[in-house]
Amino acid sequence: MKKIRIAIVGHRFMGRAHSNAWNQVTKFFEPAAEPVLQVACGRDGSALAAFAERWGWAEVATDWREVLGRDDIDAIDIATPTHLHAEMAVAAAEAGKHIFCEKPFANTLAEAEAMLASAEKAGVVHYLNHNYRRCPAVLLAKKLIDEGEIGEVRHWRGAYQQSWLNDPGHPLDWKLRKETAAAGPLWDLGSHAIDLARFLVGDFAEIECRGKQFTCERPLAEDPSRMGRVEVECAALMTGELAGGALASIETTRYATGRRNRHSFEVYGSKGALAWDMEDMNRLRFYSEGDPEDRRGFRDILVTERCHEYVGAWWPPGHIIGYEHGFVHAAADFLDACAGGGPVEPNFRDGVECLRVLEAAAASMEGAGRVRLPVSG
Ligand SMILES: NC(=O)c1ccc[n+]([C@@H]2O[C@H](COP(=O)([O-])OP(=O)(O)OC[C@H]3O[C@@H](n4cnc5c(N)ncnc54)[C@H](O)[C@@H]3O)[C@@H](O)[C@H]2O)c1
Repeated sequence: MKKIRIAIVGHRFMGRAHSNAWNQVTKFFEPAAEPVLQVACGRDGSALAAFAERWGWAEVATDWREVLGRDDIDAIDIATPTHLHAEMAVAAAEAGKHIFCEKPFANTLAEAEAMLASAEKAGVVHYLNHNYRRCPAVLLAKKLIDEGEIGEVRHWRGAYQQSWLNDPGHPLDWKLRKETAAAGPLWDLGSHAIDLARFLVGDFAEIECRGKQFTCERPLAEDPSRMGRVEVECAALMTGELAGGALASIETTRYATGRRNRHSFEVYGSKGALAWDMEDMNRLRFYSEGDPEDRRGFRDILVTERCHEYVGAWWPPGHIIGYEHGFVHAAADFLDACAGGGPVEPNFRDGVECLRVLEAAAASMEGAGRVRLPVSG
């Protein structure tokens, strides 16, 4: 079987989630290529060595550029802070490597366009990890919407709510600096929420966004005895209209006490509605106007049957799956694409479209009011 030799950059949260996926994928799926965990790249020598040993990476390296120059590497897995994605992805494409990239795709639309252009020019596989697209319940929602089960879509209500910044002692880390993260939850969580909206109900035609600051200063990550200024918004509320005519809202925050990782949507159409929530990710709520009048109501579908996307590879019906499974599904599809199975989605093209919405939202948040967006073909 063809082998795809991978170099990963970044070895913390996403480094672990991706390593787990590369390790599990051939145990449950039969992708057309087998991943080889070749090199783990990072800056911190001892943490990197421990990471590589635990997750099975054959080698470690502290210079990712040098690794990209090697002939025995086929793909790069970018699991670093956002401001590094563009430089790494462009260099990887120029070196002819396939790219598995974390979200938010980039810090600016210009960066995103350069990343897409270089990947397309090089003809490499490019994947952008909006992992929620590969939750089976989300895929069932897509099927029901595409088959017309909820009719003409009138409302999209998306929210990505976390609560970890309610702690005033949480340090000022890279996610709270403009230079490294571009923006706050609008970019970090909003990129996922926008991608899910685009995937399920289509592009945004017009948006407007309002941001809010709850905490202005935090202890510095590098020296907690000193305080530093939070440079990004604490919460953002985006409203808009989709190209198909639906009204939409997307709420993002890291201050929603009690909501730990509540990525959710509700979509209402002329014939029915759907609702999903990542904190209960195996279930899809479906309402149909077609049901007999005396028993209409949201039904609760446990999306764990063999007929549901990806589920058959895992456990018997009712034996639920979790957060990490979406990453394994993405790994399987990425490997198929690397073995010549055609493009994988979402990809850098989706990254550009997402950045278009994010930049417009940031401009709106800073006073640009309503912003119209070009609708892609
Ligand atoms: N798909 C998801 O749901 C999801 C969830 C969390 C984070 N992310 C994204 O994944 C990426 C990484 O986030 P994280 O939470 O793993 O961050 P993290 O802070 O936990 O880890 C970042 C890693 O990048 C490394 N790094 C930083 N600067 C580097 C440099 N100059 N060269 C080499 N390595 C460097 C760090 O040492 C660390 O290992 C971000 O883009 C983030 O938005 C995605």
